[in-house]
Amino acid sequence: MAAPTLDVHLTDADVRASLRADVLRGLTATPKWLPPKWFYDATGSKLFELITELDEYYPTRTERGLLTEHADEIAALTRAEVLVELGSGSSDKTRLLLSAGTAEGSLRRYVPQDVSPSALTGAMEDLVRDYPELEIHGVVSDFTDTLRSLPAGGRRTVAFLGGTLGNLVPQERAEFLAEIGRTVHAGEFLLLGVGLVVDPAVMVPAYDDAAGVTARFNRNVLSVLNGSLDATFDPESFAHVAVWDDRHEWIEMRLRSSRAQDVRIEALGLDVHFDEGEEMRTEISAKFREESITGELAAAGFVVDRFWTDADRRFAVLAARREG
Ligand code: AVJ
Repeated sequence: MAAPTLDVHLTDADVRASLRADVLRGLTATPKWLPPKWFYDATGSKLFELITELDEYYPTRTERGLLTEHADEIAALTRAEVLVELGSGSSDKTRLLLSAGTAEGSLRRYVPQDVSPSALTGAMEDLVRDYPELEIHGVVSDFTDTLRSLPAGGRRTVAFLGGTLGNLVPQERAEFLAEIGRTVHAGEFLLLGVGLVVDPAVMVPAYDDAAGVTARFNRNVLSVLNGSLDATFDPESFAHVAVWDDRHEWIEMRLRSSRAQDVRIEALGLDVHFDEGEEMRTEISAKFREESITGELAAAGFVVDRFWTDADRRFAVLAARREG
């Protein structure tokens, strides 16, 4: 079996600079906010894995069901030689695509990309063992950089699963899809997993579970700031909040300060005041409708060939072909 390769496009210095810029921008804004990508240190990645096992959190298991059911059809339709996966995390569900792609016979190479080196290296060790016939080439980067440095040669499918597209605000999302559209060639595919708009009584508990795992995941971002920017957040003094925003059709996660407090962010020389009850946005997770996502993909040059969904229409996996 070939040794896996790992390209690191994000140096520790890049990561630090981008964290500092994000925190400075978000914590001096009104209302305050933090981008969700900073959830995923080693602890945050583990907490997310725990979230995926919760009864209330249906997206992961629904998507896994769809991939299990349709992996052979995906392989036959796309005939991908190279599978690039953006935000691959543990690559757990991707195994269904790797197995179907190698069985179909076209697939030669898997390029998992993630911002978390710990999640990526852990996943790759198991993958080389289980898929000795595949060349595995991991990339530590932001998704947008990966697109610029996509390996050339071979018919590609770019997978972006789990509903992570929903973490981008509409403007970022349009730019991101357009960038994928410019990167892939006519006839290549984008395989996208997105959460659909359903009853808020189903969506909200998925982001506010009874066991409090999502609350720990949310508060963990404050520990990330404490550790990397020498900040003085007391995570326990922030309450986890998850609400459905009906106008934007997204779940919003927030941290609500339970008291008036001042936090020092030493690495930025910044003091930040929180009022009692003040809420800071930490994530949006947009949900989609078939017509809306089809329209957004069309604007980026893609035609939706297949739209697979579960019986309750809670989640969709779609295969979008780049038009020529
Ligand atoms: C990993 C971005 C798909 O938005 O559902 C889970 C992250 N946040 N619970 C999502 C998340 C709170 C998740 N994604």
